[in-house]
Amino acid sequence: MSIEKNLFGLLPNGKEVYIYTLKNNNGMEVKVSTYGGTIVSLLTSDKNGEFHDVVLGYDSLEGYLKGDKYFGALVGRFANRIQYGTFKLNDKEYKLATNNGPNHLHGGIKGFDKVLWNATLIEDKNNILQLSYLSVDGEEGYPGNLNVNVKYILTEDNSLELHYEATSDKDTIINLTNHSYFNLCGHSSGDVLNHKIMINADKFTVNDKYSIPTGEIRNVDGTPMDFRTLTPIGANINSDYEQITFGNGYDHNWVLNTTDSPLTKVAKAICEHTGISLDVYTTQPGVQFYTANFLDGSDIGKDNAIYNMRNAFCLETQYFPNSINCSNFKSPILKAGEKYDHKTIYKFSTI
Ligand code: BGC
Repeated sequence: MSIEKNLFGLLPNGKEVYIYTLKNNNGMEVKVSTYGGTIVSLLTSDKNGEFHDVVLGYDSLEGYLKGDKYFGALVGRFANRIQYGTFKLNDKEYKLATNNGPNHLHGGIKGFDKVLWNATLIEDKNNILQLSYLSVDGEEGYPGNLNVNVKYILTEDNSLELHYEATSDKDTIINLTNHSYFNLCGHSSGDVLNHKIMINADKFTVNDKYSIPTGEIRNVDGTPMDFRTLTPIGANINSDYEQITFGNGYDHNWVLNTTDSPLTKVAKAICEHTGISLDVYTTQPGVQFYTANFLDGSDIGKDNAIYNMRNAFCLETQYFPNSINCSNFKSPILKAGEKYDHKTIYKFSTI
């Protein structure tokens, strides 16, 4: 394992942005930018020993400063949507920044994907990269000074572990995730409809037409939302099932079947062409499976790749979207002085 630090670019205010390259002894390599805690590239081996970059992104910092797709970003304070950007906590009504019509999406106008993180290296046998950020009381409308630490750990079994920890000096809400857009055939290889995916969930949260969970939890059985066994992503993506038409494809939260073990294997995805397989493990109760329905070819990515609709998929582990407004969902409240502590592991192998 090794970690290398290089300058990625300068922010308009002149501040330096660094890119850290984590490498393991098998040649797997992950690049992380201190701007937005973004995973910029992830090289992993295919079944013939050739390496592919399996995440979408930009070649330079400028791309990330202009882009609005959250490629690889560390999303916070609250992943996904909060209806009308409002919620009640301890009898007080909070009004967050709205940036998705009348709703709040991915932390607001300047979410964690658009801030500069402070990097430290924890040099033990794992060589950990830790990114830290203090989100001040009132930022984007959220209560409490929130101290966030996210560890990026690349292991010798080809796992990228993301360990999220946070504390606040006031009761608040929090929901952190990573927004990598994966394409296991290679980031520039076109649509992911032939990828096979498994999501370990018997249920999903039903959305309204603005992609906000209504509070209803529905069985996947007999619906195009059933991914309990490996199924091609494209099998039912053009179905007229109302949930799919609302999302223009998959853009929903699955209610994960959890086990007694703190880390559950919640999803698997495979590109049979490269043989690259991704297993996702998490401590979180939900995963947003999003099939890049809003990519439209306007993003020029790495190596001049043009990213079109459904050229990638995201598996964003998290509390359920809008959970603060749905009392039957697991609560995303972080009490003052308590610790938010979640892990997600993306493990790569070949078939
Ligand atoms: C959301 C999508 C959104 C995308 C990019 C996903 O997490 O569910 O609706 O378009 O992020 O912002």
